Amino acid sequence: MDKIIKNGTIITAFDTFRADIGIEDGKIVMIAKDIKDEKAEIIDAKGKYVLPGAIDSHTHLQMPFGGTISADNYEAGTRAAACGGVTTVFDFALQQKGHGIVQTAKERDALCAPQACVDYAFHVAITDLRPEVLDEFKAAVEFGISSFKVFMVYKKEGLMVNDGVLCKVLEKAKEVGAIIAVHAENPDLIDARTEDFLKEGKTSAWYHYLSRPEFVEAEADIRAIHWAKSLNTPLYIVHLANKQGMDEVKKARDEGYEIYAETCPQYLHFTNEVYKREDGRNFVCSPPMKAQESQDALWLGIKSGDIATIATDHCPFQSYEKDWGKDDFTKIPNGCMGIENMYPYMLSEANKGRITLNKVVELCCKNPAKIYGCAPEKGTIAVGSDADIVIYDPNKKFTVSKDNMHSDVDYTIWEGLELNGYVDMTFSRGKLVFKDGEFCGEPGWGKLLKRKARK
Ligand code: URP
Ligand code: ZN
Ligand code: ZN
Repeated sequence: MDKIIKNGTIITAFDTFRADIGIEDGKIVMIAKDIKDEKAEIIDAKGKYVLPGAIDSHTHLQMPFGGTISADNYEAGTRAAACGGVTTVFDFALQQKGHGIVQTAKERDALCAPQACVDYAFHVAITDLRPEVLDEFKAAVEFGISSFKVFMVYKKEGLMVNDGVLCKVLEKAKEVGAIIAVHAENPDLIDARTEDFLKEGKTSAWYHYLSRPEFVEAEADIRAIHWAKSLNTPLYIVHLANKQGMDEVKKARDEGYEIYAETCPQYLHFTNEVYKREDGRNFVCSPPMKAQESQDALWLGIKSGDIATIATDHCPFQSYEKDWGKDDFTKIPNGCMGIENMYPYMLSEANKGRITLNKVVELCCKNPAKIYGCAPEKGTIAVGSDADIVIYDPNKKFTVSKDNMHSDVDYTIWEGLELNGYVDMTFSRGKLVFKDGEFCGEPGWGKLLKRKARK
């Protein structure tokens, strides 16, 4: 064996138990009491938790958006991921008009491969559904892309699809063993409300929230769920942030439909009050953070199992870019950071007793791996799985600051957040990539995942 992690407490989605982990050639080859191998490097995890590396199944790295390009390139984003215990990143590859799906993924991969510090996969965002693109879904799944994204918003940006396209891709994805992820908000309401606010001179970040409040998101959630139920297809709703949408997800799931909801740490921690702050523009993302009632509903959804996954929607911009919208919220590039904060934040909430550590592993590791076709290689600690492992010190106190983060962004919305417990070490396929606050991985290490089709 190459390495043995000794004396730790292993946490999976189902179990908590004391055992050693033997690692060889990037894989977990043994889980047992007191593993011995004189040739192996010993990593002592006494008093620590040993967790699967997290999967951030929603990021936008180096993505052209909001009149600029998101501030973390693949190297910075995956470096920050490793330092926050994330060992797999699912990024969005936007289809350009006239391009195919596999072409889109390959072009993105050419950019990503030399930079990636942890493993990665792509959801291809369908923006131009020509008949040949629909026909290409099967080949895309065979290539290892088994999830696609559609935006029900961003009309002016050329990303939006209409309901006809949404329904076509839902049906085709089901046929070929893929899943559709949707960004659900109502574009017409956003445009109408924005126009009115601008005419009235209401231009602060608070009006970003009011241009797309709870009911604007809920309408699109309900509509997407309606189509998925009517067509009997699976559906994955990204960054769910409102109570009414949450209620509709729960209802559909109770009725037996395969509806998955993802939410993000920013919706679990902040409310719309942030938009009243002087630096409110830094929190501008879509959908926006909502009122306390929605945040409470999301936590309840986590406890009931109706929230399937946590991901970050990591799409940061530098503060000078956010400042473009100081006097006009429509000029603020939409997106926030969180790739390095997701796992520590969720684990800290568990440490404080809000949910169990097993639940965090279910939300951040096991479920995204299963839904997106990369289990059991990813998302768990089991013999045969990749040795993507986090050693976590539950007693470490950590205060988030721009200065102890590893992304390229010049601020963080998480500044000052006090965490109970923090990541000590991260291993990516057995390779140490983070230790004692320092990144020690290398760009080019991360591999593109070829994912399985859904059954
Ligand atoms: O504001 C956000 N979320 N920006 C990234 C793109 C998206 O909608 O996910
Ligand atoms: Zn989105
Ligand atoms: Zn997103």
